[in-house]
Amino acid sequence: MFINDRKILFIPLKKDRTSKYLCTILHKEVTTKYIQMKFFIDTANLDQIQEAQALGILDGVTTNPSLMAKEGITGQPNIINHYKAICELVEGDVSAEVIATDFDGMVKEGEALAALNPQIVVKLPMIKDGIKACKYFSSKGIKTNVTLVFSAGQALLAAKAGATYVSPFIGRLDDISTDGLNLISEIRLIYDNYGFETQILAASVRHTMHIIDCAKLGSDVMTGPLSAIEGLLKHPLTDIGLAKFLADYKKGN
Ligand code: E4P
Repeated sequence: MFINDRKILFIPLKKDRTSKYLCTILHKEVTTKYIQMKFFIDTANLDQIQEAQALGILDGVTTNPSLMAKEGITGQPNIINHYKAICELVEGDVSAEVIATDFDGMVKEGEALAALNPQIVVKLPMIKDGIKACKYFSSKGIKTNVTLVFSAGQALLAAKAGATYVSPFIGRLDDISTDGLNLISEIRLIYDNYGFETQILAASVRHTMHIIDCAKLGSDVMTGPLSAIEGLLKHPLTDIGLAKFLADYKKGN
């Protein structure tokens, strides 16, 4: 059978390796065709969020306690108000990180954050109680982002716990002379092998080439600073070409 010029195979639901393999191939074809890479901005700075939003390419925002502190946002009421302000600026998902490190604390904090706005994604650290909390939130339909992920094994656990997003920190791995992008490839392979729906959110993106490499490797999302996103715009031949076009236009007008 053909749908939109693509051949669709119907595979009998048998528990043998052949059927499982064919299903995996089909899943890859479908995801490759229909899912676009998302761009998140990694900041708590409202001006920068607004600027990225105005560009028309923003799909969401990620924050963390360090980024909030950098903007001078301290104290629970101010932090809550800041998340609300971010949600008003953008349409997509806004990751808000819990401070608690025990299951009960993470659940309490995460539920309060999720109640602020349906855009809020509860960001949980990649620790034992974080995984338990992730499972708890995913069973309740609350979006999660498992953060501080530095290995394929951690990413596998996050997917098993039903995380909406997993955040491998590629820049911090590069910082310690370990290939951050290789981790994206490993996670992509593992998730595709089993059809895990957890989205790979490449975090700790430091520059424009990180974004391009993540796109090549099939990362579902990247979160980076405005400078890295704006770097995608730039090419000297574009500037030279535009200057020439405008100069030539002026000659005849
Ligand atoms: C985002 O979710 C992460 O917290 C962030 O990307 C970490 O980036 P950094 O390593 O540049 O601090």
